[in-house]
Amino acid sequence: MHLAIIMDGNGRWAKTRGLGRIKGHKEGAKRVEEIVRYASKIGVHTLTLYAFSTENWQRPSPEVTALFQLIKLYLRRKVRELKIENVKINFIGRRDRLPKPVLKEMINSENETDKCTGLHLNVAVDYGGRDEILRVMNDLIQESSSLSGHPREIDEASFKSYSDLKNQCDPDLIIRTGGDKRLSNFMLWHAAYSELDFVDTLWPDFNEKELASALDRASGKERRYGGIGDS
Ligand code: FPP
Repeated sequence: MHLAIIMDGNGRWAKTRGLGRIKGHKEGAKRVEEIVRYASKIGVHTLTLYAFSTENWQRPSPEVTALFQLIKLYLRRKVRELKIENVKINFIGRRDRLPKPVLKEMINSENETDKCTGLHLNVAVDYGGRDEILRVMNDLIQESSSLSGHPREIDEASFKSYSDLKNQCDPDLIIRTGGDKRLSNFMLWHAAYSELDFVDTLWPDFNEKELASALDRASGKERRYGGIGDS
């Protein structure tokens, strides 16, 4: 099972408590720790979390700084634990615009957990589905201009091999918390056959029980990939 989560609702969670948005993100980071542990425990093989989108740069700069600080702190504090729990961490998205200390921590955590064979944790940072598609297209153009003779025809496999999920399967289930029913530029290529589950719960209130219910809901459904299924 490849589970992907759009973690939405931190700001509203904080607002309803009279707190600043950053407090909501801090609480959200605690849920990340719990959900990663739980996903690993129940045998999810891949978990992809949408932590910072290409659009999130438009937020006020103190909020952007706080989000990167939280990601950096999470990695610094958790990498040893993740390694012990056999979690392999990997970042998807752009790397060219990130603050250097954050990027350094990200690369360090990828290297530290490189040999882990348990849960594969993808964290999407400066990730956008359209941006990913454009990066793949540019890489394919580059590859084709470096080949002599006719450029090879692009097919789904060649596209995937340059994408952020190369060597990984597409998400089986995408959960979005916070009540909105949209993908917000997440996994635009890879979500073609994903089950989508939109829950009203705000991310800081999301817990193991809610995840278990979402997994139950998804397992009750049959995906037919455009065919007519078994029945
Ligand atoms: C959306 O809520 C959430 C984000 C933009 C950030 C998600 C980040 C975390 C959960 C914490 C850090 C991550 C890691 C991996 C440690 P929102 O602010 O858009 O909420 P709103 O819709 O209520 O305003």
